[in-house]
Amino acid sequence: MDSERNCGCVAALENVKNPIKVAREVMETPHILIAGEGANEFAKSRGFQHFNPRTERATKAWEKVKERLKKRDLPDWAKKWEDYEPVDTVGVAAMDSKGRFATTNSTGGTTFMLNGRIGDTPVIGAGLYAAEKGAVSATGVGEEIVRIVLSKWVYDRIAEGLHPQDACDSSLKFFEKEMPTGIIAVSEDGYGVSCNTKMAWWAREG
Ligand code: GLY
Repeated sequence: MDSERNCGCVAALENVKNPIKVAREVMETPHILIAGEGANEFAKSRGFQHFNPRTERATKAWEKVKERLKKRDLPDWAKKWEDYEPVDTVGVAAMDSKGRFATTNSTGGTTFMLNGRIGDTPVIGAGLYAAEKGAVSATGVGEEIVRIVLSKWVYDRIAEGLHPQDACDSSLKFFEKEMPTGIIAVSEDGYGVSCNTKMAWWAREG
Protein backbone atom coordinates (compact mmCIF):
# COMPACT_ATOMS: atom_id res chain seq x y z
CA MET A 1 0.00 0.00 0.00
CA ASP A 2 1.25 3.50 -0.69
CA SER A 3 0.53 7.16 0.11
CA GLU A 4 -2.01 7.33 -2.71
CA ARG A 5 -3.89 4.45 -1.08
CA ASN A 6 -2.98 2.13 -3.96
CA CYS A 7 -3.27 -1.42 -2.61
CA GLY A 8 -2.27 -4.90 -3.75
CA CYS A 9 -2.53 -8.07 -1.67
CA VAL A 10 -2.41 -11.83 -2.09
CA ALA A 11 -3.46 -14.52 0.39
CA ALA A 12 -3.24 -18.30 0.60
CA LEU A 13 -0.75 -18.15 -2.25
CA GLU A 14 1.44 -21.20 -2.85
CA ASN A 15 4.79 -21.99 -4.41
CA VAL A 16 5.99 -18.48 -5.19
CA LYS A 17 9.39 -17.15 -4.11
CA ASN A 18 8.39 -13.49 -3.56
CA PRO A 19 4.68 -13.09 -2.72
CA ILE A 20 5.18 -9.34 -2.25
CA LYS A 21 6.08 -9.04 -5.94
CA VAL A 22 2.82 -10.78 -6.83
CA ALA A 23 0.96 -8.38 -4.51
CA ARG A 24 2.62 -5.48 -6.32
CA GLU A 25 1.21 -6.85 -9.59
CA VAL A 26 -2.28 -6.94 -8.05
CA MET A 27 -1.87 -3.19 -7.48
CA GLU A 28 -1.91 -2.82 -11.28
CA THR A 29 -5.37 -4.45 -11.51
CA PRO A 30 -8.74 -2.99 -10.40
CA HIS A 31 -8.65 -5.37 -7.39
CA ILE A 32 -7.07 -5.20 -3.96
CA LEU A 33 -6.91 -8.78 -2.65
CA ILE A 34 -6.71 -12.06 -4.55
CA ALA A 35 -6.66 -15.38 -2.67
CA GLY A 36 -6.13 -19.13 -3.09
CA GLU A 37 -6.35 -20.78 -6.51
CA GLY A 38 -7.08 -17.44 -8.16
CA ALA A 39 -3.92 -15.96 -6.65
CA ASN A 40 -1.87 -18.98 -7.79
CA GLU A 41 -3.25 -18.61 -11.33
CA PHE A 42 -2.66 -14.87 -11.29
CA ALA A 43 0.99 -15.37 -10.24
CA LYS A 44 1.48 -17.93 -13.01
CA SER A 45 -0.10 -15.65 -15.59
CA ARG A 46 2.32 -12.87 -14.58
CA GLY A 47 5.32 -15.14 -15.13
CA PHE A 48 6.18 -16.13 -11.55
CA GLN A 49 8.00 -19.46 -11.60
CA HIS A 50 7.06 -22.42 -9.39
CA PHE A 51 9.16 -22.28 -6.21
CA ASN A 52 9.04 -24.55 -3.16
CA PRO A 53 9.65 -22.23 -0.20
CA ARG A 54 9.81 -24.96 2.44
CA THR A 55 12.93 -24.69 4.59
CA GLU A 56 14.42 -27.35 6.88
CA ARG A 57 13.10 -25.42 9.89
CA ALA A 58 9.59 -25.24 8.43
CA THR A 59 9.69 -28.97 7.64
CA LYS A 60 10.61 -29.73 11.26
CA ALA A 61 7.76 -27.52 12.54
CA TRP A 62 5.36 -29.26 10.16
CA GLU A 63 6.51 -32.72 11.38
CA LYS A 64 5.89 -31.55 14.96
CA VAL A 65 2.37 -30.44 14.09
CA LYS A 66 1.65 -33.71 12.30
CA GLU A 67 2.81 -35.69 15.38
CA ARG A 68 0.46 -33.66 17.57
CA LEU A 69 -2.43 -34.16 15.18
CA LYS A 70 -1.80 -37.92 15.14
CA LYS A 71 -2.08 -37.93 18.93
CA ARG A 72 -5.21 -35.76 18.73
CA ASP A 73 -3.28 -33.21 20.79
CA LEU A 74 -5.27 -30.35 19.33
CA PRO A 75 -4.97 -26.68 20.18
CA ASP A 76 -7.39 -25.27 22.70
CA TRP A 77 -9.17 -22.64 20.60
CA ALA A 78 -10.59 -21.12 23.76
CA LYS A 79 -7.08 -20.05 24.72
CA LYS A 80 -6.99 -18.16 21.45
CA TRP A 81 -3.32 -17.57 20.99
CA GLU A 82 -1.35 -19.55 23.57
CA ASP A 83 -0.95 -22.46 21.18
CA TYR A 84 0.08 -20.34 18.23
CA GLU A 85 3.50 -20.71 16.76
CA PRO A 86 4.11 -17.81 14.41
CA VAL A 87 5.87 -18.78 11.18
CA ASP A 88 7.80 -15.53 10.81
CA THR A 89 6.52 -12.31 9.31
CA VAL A 90 8.55 -9.58 7.66
CA GLY A 91 7.28 -6.03 7.29
CA VAL A 92 8.52 -2.72 5.92
CA ALA A 93 7.33 0.88 6.36
CA ALA A 94 9.20 3.44 4.26
CA MET A 95 9.31 7.10 3.24
CA ASP A 96 11.14 8.21 0.09
CA SER A 97 13.04 11.47 -0.54
CA LYS A 98 9.84 13.06 -1.90
CA GLY A 99 7.96 12.33 1.34
CA ARG A 100 5.87 9.53 -0.16
CA PHE A 101 5.07 6.49 1.98
CA ALA A 102 4.77 2.78 1.30
CA THR A 103 4.40 -0.36 3.35
CA THR A 104 4.41 -4.09 2.73
CA ASN A 105 4.64 -7.39 4.58
CA SER A 106 4.73 -11.14 4.09
CA THR A 107 4.08 -14.15 6.34
CA GLY A 108 3.84 -17.90 6.50
CA GLY A 109 0.98 -17.51 8.98
CA THR A 110 0.90 -19.57 12.15
CA THR A 111 0.51 -23.14 13.35
CA PHE A 112 -2.00 -24.43 14.13
CA MET A 113 -4.30 -22.91 11.58
CA LEU A 114 -7.26 -24.23 9.62
CA ASN A 115 -6.75 -24.70 5.91
CA GLY A 116 -7.68 -21.45 4.19
CA ARG A 117 -7.13 -19.30 7.26
CA ILE A 118 -6.00 -15.76 6.47
CA GLY A 119 -4.58 -13.65 9.29
CA ASP A 120 -3.82 -9.94 9.45
CA THR A 121 -0.93 -9.72 7.01
CA PRO A 122 -2.81 -9.11 3.71
CA VAL A 123 -5.69 -7.25 5.35
CA ILE A 124 -5.53 -3.52 4.68
CA GLY A 125 -5.84 -1.58 7.94
CA ALA A 126 -4.95 -4.61 10.05
CA GLY A 127 -1.49 -5.88 9.00
CA LEU A 128 -0.58 -2.74 7.08
CA TYR A 129 -1.72 0.76 6.22
CA ALA A 130 -0.28 3.75 4.38
CA ALA A 131 -1.63 7.12 3.29
CA GLU A 132 -0.39 10.70 2.98
CA LYS A 133 0.75 10.98 6.64
CA GLY A 134 2.72 7.78 7.06
CA ALA A 135 3.07 4.03 6.73
CA VAL A 136 2.56 1.21 9.25
CA SER A 137 3.21 -2.55 9.30
CA ALA A 138 2.18 -4.89 12.12
CA THR A 139 2.36 -8.53 13.09
CA GLY A 140 1.39 -10.86 15.90
CA VAL A 141 -1.70 -12.99 16.36
CA GLY A 142 -3.51 -12.15 13.15
CA GLU A 143 -7.05 -12.54 14.46
CA GLU A 144 -6.40 -10.17 17.36
CA ILE A 145 -4.79 -7.60 15.06
CA VAL A 146 -7.74 -7.71 12.65
CA ARG A 147 -10.16 -7.14 15.55
CA ILE A 148 -8.37 -3.91 16.46
CA VAL A 149 -7.62 -2.88 12.83
CA LEU A 150 -4.23 -2.17 14.33
CA SER A 151 -2.27 -0.54 11.52
CA LYS A 152 -5.08 1.91 10.75
CA TRP A 153 -5.37 2.70 14.46
CA VAL A 154 -1.67 3.58 14.61
CA TYR A 155 -1.91 5.53 11.33
CA ASP A 156 -4.82 7.57 12.69
CA ARG A 157 -2.81 8.52 15.79
CA ILE A 158 0.06 9.64 13.52
CA ALA A 159 -2.39 11.65 11.38
CA GLU A 160 -3.56 13.34 14.60
CA GLY A 161 0.03 14.47 15.18
CA LEU A 162 1.51 11.78 17.42
CA HIS A 163 5.13 10.77 16.81
CA PRO A 164 5.25 7.25 15.27
CA GLN A 165 7.09 5.94 18.35
CA ASP A 166 4.31 7.14 20.67
CA ALA A 167 1.64 5.83 18.29
CA CYS A 168 3.29 2.38 18.19
CA ASP A 169 3.84 2.30 21.97
CA SER A 170 0.26 3.23 22.78
CA SER A 171 -1.13 0.56 20.43
CA LEU A 172 0.30 -2.24 22.58
CA LYS A 173 -2.38 -1.52 25.20
CA PHE A 174 -4.80 -3.56 23.09
CA PHE A 175 -2.89 -6.79 23.62
CA GLU A 176 -2.26 -9.02 26.59
CA LYS A 177 1.33 -8.63 27.71
CA GLU A 178 2.41 -12.11 26.64
CA MET A 179 0.66 -11.98 23.28
CA PRO A 180 3.42 -11.55 20.69
CA THR A 181 2.78 -8.29 18.87
CA GLY A 182 5.10 -6.04 16.87
CA ILE A 183 4.53 -2.80 15.01
CA ILE A 184 6.66 -0.41 12.95
CA ALA A 185 5.68 2.98 11.57
CA VAL A 186 7.17 5.97 9.79
CA SER A 187 6.04 9.55 9.25
CA GLU A 188 7.70 12.87 8.38
CA ASP A 189 8.52 13.16 12.12
CA GLY A 190 10.60 9.96 12.21
CA TYR A 191 9.94 6.30 12.86
CA GLY A 192 8.67 4.10 15.65
CA VAL A 193 8.99 0.45 16.61
CA SER A 194 7.28 -1.36 19.47
CA CYS A 195 7.00 -4.99 20.42
CA ASN A 196 6.16 -6.98 23.51
CA THR A 197 8.16 -10.00 22.40
CA LYS A 198 11.53 -10.64 20.84
CA MET A 199 11.32 -9.29 17.30
CA ALA A 200 14.13 -8.04 15.12
CA TRP A 201 13.91 -4.62 13.56
CA TRP A 202 16.20 -2.42 11.59
CA ALA A 203 16.01 1.22 10.51
CA ARG A 204 17.99 3.13 7.93
CA GLU A 205 17.99 6.66 6.63
CA GLY A 206 19.27 7.74 3.27
N1 GLY B 1 0.67 -12.15 11.83
C1 GLY B 1 0.69 -13.30 11.04
C2 GLY B 1 -0.54 -14.09 11.09
O1 GLY B 1 -1.25 -14.10 12.09
O2 GLY B 1 -0.82 -14.75 10.13
